[in-house]
Amino acid sequence: MITNLNWKFKTKYHYYLVDTIDSTNTYLKNNYNEYPDKTILIALEQTAGRGRYDRKWRSDKDIIFSILLKNNGNYEITTPLAICMALDSYGFDAGIKWPNDIYLNDKKLCGILIEDVFQIKFEASIIGIGINMTNKDSVDGIGLNKDIDKYDLINSIIDNFDKLNKLGHDELISLYRKRNIVYNKKVYYKDKIYTAKDIDIDGHLILDDGNNKIVVSSDEINIKESLL
Ligand code: BTN
Repeated sequence: MITNLNWKFKTKYHYYLVDTIDSTNTYLKNNYNEYPDKTILIALEQTAGRGRYDRKWRSDKDIIFSILLKNNGNYEITTPLAICMALDSYGFDAGIKWPNDIYLNDKKLCGILIEDVFQIKFEASIIGIGINMTNKDSVDGIGLNKDIDKYDLINSIIDNFDKLNKLGHDELISLYRKRNIVYNKKVYYKDKIYTAKDIDIDGHLILDDGNNKIVVSSDEINIKESLL
């Protein structure tokens, strides 16, 4: 059962809570017509959580929610920034691992899955966010490990997200570049090892193999196993 949570949040976003669901992203993708712009669906548990590149996303008492937006935006940039800024206020020094994983102490804390729905024209963006509350079995999974009110944190993320969505592209890219932790780290791309050099004005990653530089965009690459 999906319950309305608006009484808890005094913003122009529409909040809903569900105990158990397959995936908050899948649900909003299939039902976006029934919900208004700026809907947030929070789940306590997902049975078929999805990550980028068809990976599974496992969560256990973690923070799981998706945002439904009916206008196009720079969400690949504003979402990770909003999460980092919200975490700042809790004393966490989190950074962005290009394109939009959130890392803490060199370990993955949060994943973001952004999916667009098209029916001839753009209909909606669904932004799924999973933040680990506890450490994960995988070597690079870290949690907040702190007694935090998850609704307060979600509220703070949305507050920052809303403000960031009003900024212009150049200002956003500048904030995004400052928050990234990729510089001078090694990454695998198409079976080769590169050094991540920079992020350009379009948000693309510049890789260097020692001889040549290449520019890659987040939708064309899958940095499968990162050496970050
Ligand atoms: C990734 O790092 O691969 C992205 C993970 C995104 C997980 C979140 S949890 C809420 C939302 N629902 C899903 O099924 N996935 C996203």
